[in-house]
Amino acid sequence: MIFIDTHTHIYLDEFDSDRSEAVERAKQNGVRYMLLPNIDSTSVDDMLTLSDEFPGNCFPMMGLHPTSVKENYREELALVESWLQKRKFFGIGECGIDLYWDKTFFKEQEYVFRHQIELALAYDMPLIVHIRDSYNEVIRILKDVNKPDLRGIFHCFSGSTEQARQATGLGFSLGLGGVITFKNNRMQETLKHVDLKHLVLETDAPFLAPVPYRGKRNEPSYIPLVAEKVAEIKNIGVEEVAKATTENAIRLFGLQDEVRKQ
Ligand code: NI
Repeated sequence: MIFIDTHTHIYLDEFDSDRSEAVERAKQNGVRYMLLPNIDSTSVDDMLTLSDEFPGNCFPMMGLHPTSVKENYREELALVESWLQKRKFFGIGECGIDLYWDKTFFKEQEYVFRHQIELALAYDMPLIVHIRDSYNEVIRILKDVNKPDLRGIFHCFSGSTEQARQATGLGFSLGLGGVITFKNNRMQETLKHVDLKHLVLETDAPFLAPVPYRGKRNEPSYIPLVAEKVAEIKNIGVEEVAKATTENAIRLFGLQDEVRKQ
């Protein structure tokens, strides 16, 4: 089985002592491809270093994370744009709205998110959307923008069946991670009503490790635990989950050429 971790931040300090080993452990577990969402100007260099070290496995994305939207957001956005002109990236993100940590820059967050939607359209790349405590705001913005060509992922999706319908209706896939393995989460019900064609897997490493590693550092090699949970909830084989989610991710990120090279 081949899996894809569509959202991992293993370029962060938490992996300074064993980053290459973490990639090798992932490959050992069938997690052959990893997509790296950027955070802000401070994370670009480490993300690109890792992408260059594992060119067939680690693929960078470019964007500005909502919790990094501060007074200097214009400079940060300019940097995102200049990087997009310099080399190949595979998605726009991580972007979106975060009203959990801080609401001070909500207006700026919306401006920056809308700008990145335009970039995703201009570069024909998927948009990786962070929706922490901001589901309604994100839906309002996407409906307002109203671009049928826009595609992407609702990262760390944990919403209701109705919200899943709304997101997939807008052409977005649902990113499933460790949260779906936690006790009493509503995805155990929601997932029964969502077709496999809308699902992709992700870790958000080093955050949100799945059971039995909950509370510890997360890493891409744990992706099969998420796949097993999806299989259990939908009462199908894990091979079917692996096949569908991997195909979905290859299509979404345009990885066909990368896969063919191997
Ligand atoms: Ni993330």
